[in-house]
Amino acid sequence: MEASHLPAIMPIEAVAFGKFHWSTEAFTNEMANPQAHYCTLLETTADGIQTIIGYGGCWVVCNEGHITTLAVNPAYKGQSLGELLVTHLYGIAIQQEAHWLTLEVRGSNITAQNLYYKYGFRLAGRRPRYYQDNHEDALLLTTPELANPQQQQVFQAQWQVLQERFHQKNSLLIGHSLLPTPLSFETEGII
Ligand SMILES: CC(C)(COP(=O)(O)OP(=O)(O)OC[C@H]1O[C@@H](n2cnc3c(N)ncnc32)[C@H](O)[C@@H]1OP(=O)(O)O)[C@@H](O)C(=O)NCCC(=O)NCCS
Repeated sequence: MEASHLPAIMPIEAVAFGKFHWSTEAFTNEMANPQAHYCTLLETTADGIQTIIGYGGCWVVCNEGHITTLAVNPAYKGQSLGELLVTHLYGIAIQQEAHWLTLEVRGSNITAQNLYYKYGFRLAGRRPRYYQDNHEDALLLTTPELANPQQQQVFQAQWQVLQERFHQKNSLLIGHSLLPTPLSFETEGII
């Protein structure tokens, strides 16, 4: 994610998260945080114009990766782009030697919960009245150890499906790399 992406990110952020969405300043601060990793998903149209269609971020602190945000432009929902972002953050967590991944999600956000459950996240706890707008509880989700063989199997199976799906979709860019090639999970012998 770069500062120049923020004008395109903010409208997605407002739709995705409503009244208490992050400010431009919050993103700017996050990008300056050495423990934070933010990525933007870009699509290049036939006429060469790049559109921001999603973004996500995580922190990696003391062996814990924590997904801080994730959103897809509503016009592009349901096309596995959320999954691409999750796998990218997952890859970052592995590269940064995180042992597991955690996140908070609204109890009412079934779409996001389904997405995370698909990648092996499980319910680990609840933070009562966590959200400022409606005082809704947050569910705390966590993966098993990323090195756990069963978790690796879950992840690899989903990653395989995604790779096949996006095999020839070279109009998509995440970070600085074309999809799906950037995500090598064969790092450090973890996966
Ligand atoms: C959550 C979000 C990122 C998902 O992005 P997306 O690109 O539409 O999702 P994908 O197409 O990658 O779907 C992946 C999985 O999510 C779940 N999912 C997606 N859309 C769903 C829906 N309408 N209802 C239920 N589950 C859904 C499914 O498990 C799906 O897997 P499947 O296709 O095998 O059923 C997107 O809806 C979004 O930006 N929401 C607003 C912001 C937000 O809630 N972020 C998460 C904060 S924790």
